[in-house]
Amino acid sequence: MGDADQRREKRGLFELGGRVALVTGAGQGLGFSIAEALAAAGAHVILNGRQSQRLETAAAQIRRDGGIASSLPFDVAEPGEVAAAFERIVADFGNLDILVNNVGIRHRFPLADISTEDFHRVLEVNLVAAFHLAKAAVALMVPRGRGRIVMVTSIAGPLGRVNDAAYIAAKGGLAGFVRALAVEFGPKGITANAVAPGYFATETNAAMVDDPQVESFVRRRIPLRRWGDPREIAGAAVFLASDAASYINGHVLTVDGGLSASF
Ligand SMILES: NC(=O)c1ccc[n+]([C@@H]2O[C@H](COP(=O)([O-])OP(=O)(O)OC[C@H]3O[C@@H](n4cnc5c(N)ncnc54)[C@H](OP(=O)(O)O)[C@@H]3O)[C@@H](O)[C@H]2O)c1
Repeated sequence: MGDADQRREKRGLFELGGRVALVTGAGQGLGFSIAEALAAAGAHVILNGRQSQRLETAAAQIRRDGGIASSLPFDVAEPGEVAAAFERIVADFGNLDILVNNVGIRHRFPLADISTEDFHRVLEVNLVAAFHLAKAAVALMVPRGRGRIVMVTSIAGPLGRVNDAAYIAAKGGLAGFVRALAVEFGPKGITANAVAPGYFATETNAAMVDDPQVESFVRRRIPLRRWGDPREIAGAAVFLASDAASYINGHVLTVDGGLSASF
């Protein structure tokens, strides 16, 4: 048995060889970790974001590690760009097996300081984009009778936080959207689930990671007493995208070191 066969056998139910996966917001942070792990499980990963150079660097890193990866820059909040991207996916790969929609933006301000435009923007990128992506993905998945959709939500949504109304509304809506997809497309062989991260030390959170007040909150409130490493989100995403999760549909898998389990 060759090395590749041995790796495949070891991955068992988590094997993703031959599957095509689109990961949005994959140039850095949690999206990159998810893309890296899907590729390590054998998938051909398509990395999305808007900055093509960053995506190409990230895809090259995955390829250096033996994975199969390409980049596809587009703005998930622009329906025309999403449509064009899916045309490219059909032309280049013929199908899509897995959609991981990880893009998310934050706009943390007291309610009085959030403009209508900013509130809309957060909804457009975090929630409406998921609608465009899911619609395009299921159009490819339904005729084949299978597919996996994984949305990245947040512990913010089911839980409230001061000065974060737009993000919480969008992520809470996204979790509801996942359940709607699960019931509408379950009969067509497609599962829709979410991973809900807690506190992860990503590039975007660098200032918070360095803030002693946040550090003390993390040590006091999170049972594991630390930030999540971005690589610690990947197992949940690979699991939900794999045959190991074949009967899991409409679930939001929290990955937060126990934060939302404690009070
Ligand atoms: N980090 C955490 O602790 C945490 C906690 C809870 C939930 N989450 C959620 O997890 C996800 C990832 O978090 P993160 O901290 O890793 O994110 P991030 O680094 O801030 O964002 C991921 C990527 O999204 C891309 N992006 C932003 N807007 C886009 C758009 N309109 N179209 C296409 N790509 C776009 C950005 O790349 P470009 O600039 O190249 O477009 C960015 O690299 C988000 O949904 C976030 O809300 C994170």
